[in-house]
Amino acid sequence: MLAAVTATRYVLPLREGGSLPGLVEADDLGTYVVKWRAAGQGVPVLAAEVVCGELARALALPVPALVTVDVAPDLAVGEPDQEVQELLRHSAGTNLGMDYLPGALDFSAHSADVDPELAGRVLWFDALVGNVDRSWRNPNMLFWHGRLQLIDHGAALTFHHHWPGAAAAVARPYDAAQHALVESHPDVAAADAALGPLVTRPLLERVLELVPDAWLRGPEEEPAATTRERYVVQLLARLDARPAWLPALVRAAADGSRGRSPAPRGQNRPGWLGPPPPPGVSQR
Ligand SMILES: Nc1ncnc2c1ncn2[C@@H]1O[C@H](COP(=O)(O)OP(=O)(O)OP(=O)(O)O)[C@@H](O)[C@H]1O
Ligand SMILES: [Mg+2]
Repeated sequence: MLAAVTATRYVLPLREGGSLPGLVEADDLGTYVVKWRAAGQGVPVLAAEVVCGELARALALPVPALVTVDVAPDLAVGEPDQEVQELLRHSAGTNLGMDYLPGALDFSAHSADVDPELAGRVLWFDALVGNVDRSWRNPNMLFWHGRLQLIDHGAALTFHHHWPGAAAAVARPYDAAQHALVESHPDVAAADAALGPLVTRPLLERVLELVPDAWLRGPEEEPAATTRERYVVQLLARLDARPAWLPALVRAAADGSRGRSPAPRGQNRPGWLGPPPPPGVSQR
C-alpha cells in the first residue's frame, strides 16, 4: 500500500492545473499536491497517477513520493471559492497526494539540462503508458534541486476509461511530435534496451497492488483483483507490441532532434557574401 496520511489543513487551490489540485498539509507534517477523487475525469485518473508514478519510480525515473490522503468533508469550510468547496465536499474519503516540491522550477527554463539518456527513457516510458500530457505546451515536469521530476500522469492509460476499446490501444502508435523532450536528442533505442527487460509481470503486479480498490473501475462492478489483472495484461501486451510502435518512436526522436540542430552551412550568410560554395569546397 501507499503511505496513508490525513489532511489537516487545506492551503490553496493550484489553479494552473486543469483538475484544480489542492495544496494540503497532513498529519505527518508533510505538504502535498492533492488530486481529488471527485474531479472531472473520475477515479481512473488517480489510478493512472499511481500505476504510472510507481512504475516510473521502479524504472529509476524521478517521481515525487505518492501517498493516499484521507480528507474530511469539512476540510475546506473556509475556502471562499464555491467550486473548490463543492469539489472538496464530494471528495471526502481517500484522495491522491504527491509530495509538494517547494521552489520547484518550471521545466521550460531548464529543458537543455536533460541529457539524451534521460530524455530517451522518459519518452520511451510515456509511449509505453500512452501519456498524452507531456507536450512542450504542458510539460508536466519540474526541476527541483537541479534534478528533473516527473509529475501528473493522470492522462495516461486512457484505455481504462473504456475497457471494450483497450485491445485496440495495445499497438497504437505514440505521437511524439509535440513531446517536451523530443528535441533533447532522446536515445530511445538505449532506453528500450535498458528499461524493456525491467517491465515484468511481477513488477506490474506489485505496482497494481498499490492502487486502492476504490480507484479501480472495471466493467460491470467486477472484483478489484480482476481489474488489476486487466491493467497487467494490457501493459504486458503494450510492451510485447513494441515492434508496432517503437520504430516510429525512434524516427520521431531523430526527426525532433534534427529540428533543433543549427541551420545548414550557408543559410545564415549575409547577402553581400554571395551564394554559398558548393558542398565539399572549403571556405578557408
Ligand atoms: N509535487 C509538486 N510540487 C510542486 N509543484 C507541483 C507539484 N505537482 C504539481 N505542481 C504544480 O501544480 C501544477 C498542476 O499540477 P498537475 O499538472 O499535476 O495538475 P493537473 O490538474 O493534472 O494539470 P493539467 O492541467 O496538466 O491536467 C503543475 O503544473 C505544477 O506547477
Ligand atoms: Mg499538469
